[in-house]
Parts: sequence; C-alpha cells; structure tokens
Amino acid sequence: MSLNVELLESSFAQIKERETDFSAHFYTNLFTDYPIIKPLFTNSDMVEQQKKLFKSLVLVVDSLRKSDVLTGALKGLGTRHVKYGVLPEHYPMVGSTLLKVFAICLEEAWTPSVEQAWIEAYGVVAQVMLDGAEYPAEILNPAV
Ligand code: HEM
Repeated sequence: MSLNVELLESSFAQIKERETDFSAHFYTNLFTDYPIIKPLFTNSDMVEQQKKLFKSLVLVVDSLRKSDVLTGALKGLGTRHVKYGVLPEHYPMVGSTLLKVFAICLEEAWTPSVEQAWIEAYGVVAQVMLDGAEYPAEILNPAV
C-alpha cells in the first residue's frame, strides 16, 4: 500500500503548530477511553513521555520518504515496547486515540481524506512496530 505522503505531511505540519494542544489531549483521552492502558504508565514521567511521543511522530512523518530509515526506527521502537508491557491488542487503542486527538486539533482541516491517510499510516506504523516486537506465538495467535 502506498501512503498519501503529501497529505500526511501537510496535515502533520498543522499538528506541529499545535503541539501543546495535542499533548494536553492525548494521554487524557487515552486513559479515559482505555483505562486498561493506564497502569503501563504508572512509573512514567508523563511530561517527558508526551515530548518523546511527539518527537517520534515528527520522526515518522519526516521519514515517510525514507522507508528504510523509517522501518528500522519503528522496528526498534516495537522491540522496546515489549519491555514496557505493551501487547498487540493495545495498538488499535492508541491508534484510535491518536486519530481522535488529531481530529480535535485539526478541526475543519480533519477531512475524510486526511482521516483515511492517517488510518492507513497508523496501520503501517503499528504493523512495522509489531514486526520488530517478536511476541511469542501464543500472544499473537491466542487460538493456536
Ligand atoms: C504509533 C505508535 C507508538 C509510538 C510512535 C510510540 C512512541 C513511544 C516513544 C517514543 C516512547 C519512549 C521510549 C522509547 O523510545 O522506547 C514510548 C514509550 C512507551 N510507550 Fe509508546 N508508542 C506507540 C505505541 C504505544 C502503544 C500501543 C502503547 C500501549 C499502551 C505504548 C505504551 C508505551 C509505554 C508504556 C512506554 C514507556 C513509558 C516509560 O518509559 O515510562 N506505546 N512510546
């Protein structure tokens, strides 16, 4: 699947201008919508975490045209997330909050095509992170 790089770049440029807004909303929404995730961050400095998440989103968007750089960075990020206690089932929760908060920040600039571009982009990001994660088969495939 080819991502809509231009739309991702132009919409994220607007999010970057609203970093404070994004950060204020992201974890509040995540923990309200998915309380199951909150305990993973018990020992985290949330101000630092907000900055790290935003920096990694900047890196992702800056690397959309350099897929080898992006794939390597995301696989490494996915590997580290196993140690944070993150499970594959948590990825759609974070994705849904991410898109919700982008919509809040972008207001009328959150058009159906921008939304579609981000649904596809998050799907790829999550899949590449999971490729780097090496979960045991029984976690990835509970029926087996
Ligand atoms: C697009 C997907 C995601 C991105 C870009 C992302 C980004 C980051 C970054 C940059 C860090 C800082 C540490 C590091 O670089 O290793 C981090 C830590 C963390 N992330 Fe994520 N993450 C994503 C998905 C998730 C998901 C699905 C969860 C599940 C709840 C999650 C939970 C955590 C936790 C618990 C930490 C550790 C916080 C700490 O160090 O105290 N992340 N994430």
